[in-house]
Amino acid sequence: MSYIVAFAGKGGVGKSTLAALTVRYLSDKRKRPILVVDADPNYCLPELLGVSINRTLASVKEEALKNKPEYIPLDEWLEIQVNKIITESKNFDLIVMGRPERDGCYCAVNNVLKRVIKEISGNYNYTVVDNEAGMEHLSRGILNKIDVLFTVSSPAKSSIQAALRIRELLKELNISLEKIFLVINQAQKKLDESEEKYLKRAFEDIYYVYFDREILNLSEEGKSVFSLSEGSVSKENFYQILEVTFDGR
Ligand SMILES: Nc1ncnc2c1ncn2[C@@H]1O[C@H](COP(=O)(O)OP(=O)(O)O)[C@@H](O)[C@H]1O
Ligand SMILES: [Mg+2]
Repeated sequence: MSYIVAFAGKGGVGKSTLAALTVRYLSDKRKRPILVVDADPNYCLPELLGVSINRTLASVKEEALKNKPEYIPLDEWLEIQVNKIITESKNFDLIVMGRPERDGCYCAVNNVLKRVIKEISGNYNYTVVDNEAGMEHLSRGILNKIDVLFTVSSPAKSSIQAALRIRELLKELNISLEKIFLVINQAQKKLDESEEKYLKRAFEDIYYVYFDREILNLSEEGKSVFSLSEGSVSKENFYQILEVTFDGR
């Protein structure tokens, strides 16, 4: 079964950046094959990973339904469509979900799609999922099992509060969650010991990725994480965290 790593947190805290770094880490360590799912309607992983995509899943779905031949069962037909929109690169395959036409539509088709994506991810050793900021529909219900969830936060109190709310929400969702960590990203310093202690009641551990001018420049220039230098602060910090997380895997 695929080992699933997912990212959650408020908007702008660095989820996509850290998801992209995870993909680079797994590629560097030859931990392949890797499936990447960009489940944020405002997707940005293609750019962060340096690939261009043809279409999103949302954009082909409607059309595919209209054109479905009667003799092919729905799930088989949708599997063909999902396979058509997978972007294959040397190091990973990428599915971009795109924006759903109707918010909150949990129709039969979406359920079939979920099943198809779950089946497809079974062909990969690792699946990396980037989520949108709102957590109500974590990955819009694609995931029912997560091995590692990195809840990302900035050092701001409001962002940490949001991370705690996500932690609470997860308890209400029907997701089997193996490990959940809090990552303070764009950090300038560690949190107070007492605050850390408090947060460790909700999260298995608290990690830090320090502010990195290089990664900010990179996103401003629209470059991928594969062009980050070896000594980049964020890369070094997060690689160390991933080393511990993937220990023995
Ligand atoms: N450790 C860091 N240091 C400096 N800037 C960062 C760091 N992590 C992310 N950023 C920047 O913060 C912005 C938001 O990051 P992004 O990954 O898009 O957030 P999210 O996916 O949570 O909305 C980007 O411009 C990114 O380059
Ligand atoms: Mg993002």
